[in-house]
Amino acid sequence: MTPSILELGYLGFEVSDRERWKRFASEVIGADVADGPCSTTRLKIDDAPARFILSYGPANDLSYAGWRVESASDVDAFSKHLKVHGVSHHWASDDDLEIRGVLRALQFRDPEGNWHEVYAAQPKASSPLQSKLVSSGFVTGNGGAGHVVFEADDYPRMIEFANKILGVKLSDNIYLQPAPGVKIEVSFFHANERHHSIAVAPRAPVPGPKKRIHHFMVEVGQVADVGRARDRCLSFGLPVVMDIGQHPNDQMISFYAHTPSGFLVEVGWGGVKVDEESWKAQAFDRVSNWGHRPFGALPGEGGGVPAAAVEVA
Ligand SMILES: [Fe+2]
Repeated sequence: MTPSILELGYLGFEVSDRERWKRFASEVIGADVADGPCSTTRLKIDDAPARFILSYGPANDLSYAGWRVESASDVDAFSKHLKVHGVSHHWASDDDLEIRGVLRALQFRDPEGNWHEVYAAQPKASSPLQSKLVSSGFVTGNGGAGHVVFEADDYPRMIEFANKILGVKLSDNIYLQPAPGVKIEVSFFHANERHHSIAVAPRAPVPGPKKRIHHFMVEVGQVADVGRARDRCLSFGLPVVMDIGQHPNDQMISFYAHTPSGFLVEVGWGGVKVDEESWKAQAFDRVSNWGHRPFGALPGEGGGVPAAAVEVA
């Protein structure tokens, strides 16, 4: 039997501006920032060794997504699962294990070339993180680090990857029609009580360099900490791309801002929790119940979510 993925445990980013990212992580997100092995930087938001890991290079994009399973033997069983499905993979090096602070991990690519890792965790640190800026703390626990939204050139193959390889479960879909005859489907998948740990959207035809991900999300414990994070983004000089609003599917009240690497971060509060026994996947026809307007939009300019700036939950 294929072992279940329990959570999105960590994300690795390759970033070019070390100092700005470190300041962004500590002064905007409110993470604890520490030097990691092999010249990396660890961002802690709870008692895990690192929820976000920075390495340094020109990519300014996601390097890898880490998916936790229960035990080292489950990692071995996942290797068999990958073999059955013809997914080539290899074991993480000792350096990679040390960088992530994990016991055992295997690494493989999805159809878009994004790296994923299935790992077994080290025992957690003894003292939970107390963020100096986020008084309510970050919502992780059974829901894992947060969520990540991939942009896909071949959307059906990525959906198949989520279903068959990762084995995450469909939470719901959002169907959009940004222009006559143009239809977009976004799919959201859960691995635990968090509404989605991963979502997949067709790549939007926007100017600028292609990014592997649209955004990642961290959840805070009080809605006031969403507002405070928004203030900190503006004070830091980072563009708020989509202002505060609420998604219809995960009910998250959130805003989106540019990270120093160009992809987005979503800071949210109040996401619904999935009860696997009773959950029924639904279909939605909008991205937001309210808000999520382009920052600074005047009344009438940003009603709902404009098709040209579709954000995905
Ligand atoms: Fe999101």
